Order: sequence, then C-alpha cells, then structure tokens
Amino acid sequence: MSQAWFISFEGIDGAGKSTHIEGLSNWFNSRGHIVTRTREPGGTPLAEKFRELALHEAMDPLTEALIMFAARREHLIQVIEPALARGEVVLCDRFTDATFAYQGGGRGFDWQVLKSLEQMVQHVPSSPLRQPDLTIWFDLPPAVAAERLSTARLPDKFESQPQSFFQAVRNGYAKRMQESPTRFAQIAADQSRDAVWSDVLKAVEAAYSQ
Ligand code: TYD
Repeated sequence: MSQAWFISFEGIDGAGKSTHIEGLSNWFNSRGHIVTRTREPGGTPLAEKFRELALHEAMDPLTEALIMFAARREHLIQVIEPALARGEVVLCDRFTDATFAYQGGGRGFDWQVLKSLEQMVQHVPSSPLRQPDLTIWFDLPPAVAAERLSTARLPDKFESQPQSFFQAVRNGYAKRMQESPTRFAQIAADQSRDAVWSDVLKAVEAAYSQ
C-alpha cells in the first residue's frame, strides 16, 4: 500500500466508532503509512469553533447545515487535501454523509439543497467532487445506541435527541448508501468489539484490493 487514502467513519451516536478508528490508525502505521486522524465538524481551529456552535446552540436547520458545510470547507482545504497530496491515509471521524443523515434524515432538511452544497464545498483543485474512498458505516439499532449512551457523559444537542430522531438518521445513512453503494461498507455494530473489528479490517482490505 502506498497511495493516499481517505476513509470516513459514520454511524449514529453510540455506534462505537472511536476505538476502531484508533485501531485502524495503528494498523496503517504498522504498515508504514503516515496517518492523519481527524474529525468533523472540526479538524482545524476555526472548524472546531464551528463545531462548538453546531453541537451546543439551537439554530435554524439551514443555519445548521451551512455551519456543517462551512466547517467542512475549512477542514478540506486546510487538512484533508494537503494530507492526501502528501500521500497519507486520512481517517476522518464523520464527513459529508453525516450531514445528509443528521440534517437531511434527522432534521428533515431538503436533500437536494444538501447535494448542491456538497457540490460547491467538495469541489477542490484536485477533484470536482472530493469524497472518501471508503466510508465505514457502523450501523446500530437506535434502541441499542440509546442504551449505550445512557451511561455516557453529558449529552450534546444531538445526543439528547429521542430515538425517533436516530431512526431517521439511520434511514438517512441507508439512503446515502443506496446512492453510492460501492463507497460504503455497512458493518453491524451490535456485535462484540472483536467481531466489529474483524469486519472493519475486511472492509478495508476488500476496498484496497479493488
Ligand atoms: P461525534 O462525532 O459523535 O463526536 P463525539 O464522539 O465527540 O460526540 O459528534 C458529532 C455530532 O455532530 C454527532 O451528533 C453528529 C453531528 N453531526 C451532524 O449533525 N452533522 C454533520 O455534518 C456532522 C459531521 C456531525
């Protein structure tokens, strides 16, 4: 493996992405890759300010979508594109599918408007529409996620939403996967941690051998 690679990780809150992102980062490092590990919303000092606003302030749905995309633009230009240009592996905890799932599915915001924002924001000098090479979707029934989150830290604006919201977010992810089936690997996140990890590795190896 030597080429630049962009992998995003998605799922409803409580799906358990973090440990596997860490594991994959070590896995790539041990194979000689330089890894840039980052997250959305956030990933630059300015985008982290947008994150703070988006996760903790009540706002109009269009404002919320615009903040997510504003953060994404900064992150793409300042962090993701340069890392890919250096030939690194970029592991990103959430990317644009989260906006479709949360703002589109969860909030019911217009899908086509999100698509036009996506076209504008993810148009970069090296690609007319930058997308991850692989998106790993940790899929989990909202009831299981709610159980996990009940013992977690103080919830943010999204984590405190009812289960029906997360069902709509899950449907949003399913719709995104239907639109780009080859980019997505859907992993059942309600298995043991070892079984999930084994599925994550299979997805990465399968995508790389393409
Ligand atoms: P998350 O990635 O789960 O971080 P943490 O593990 O620190 O809580 O939190 C980010 C939240 O932001 C999550 O609830 C999903 C939400 N979000 C959106 O609503 N839209 C987006 O475009 C992105 C990237 C995230």
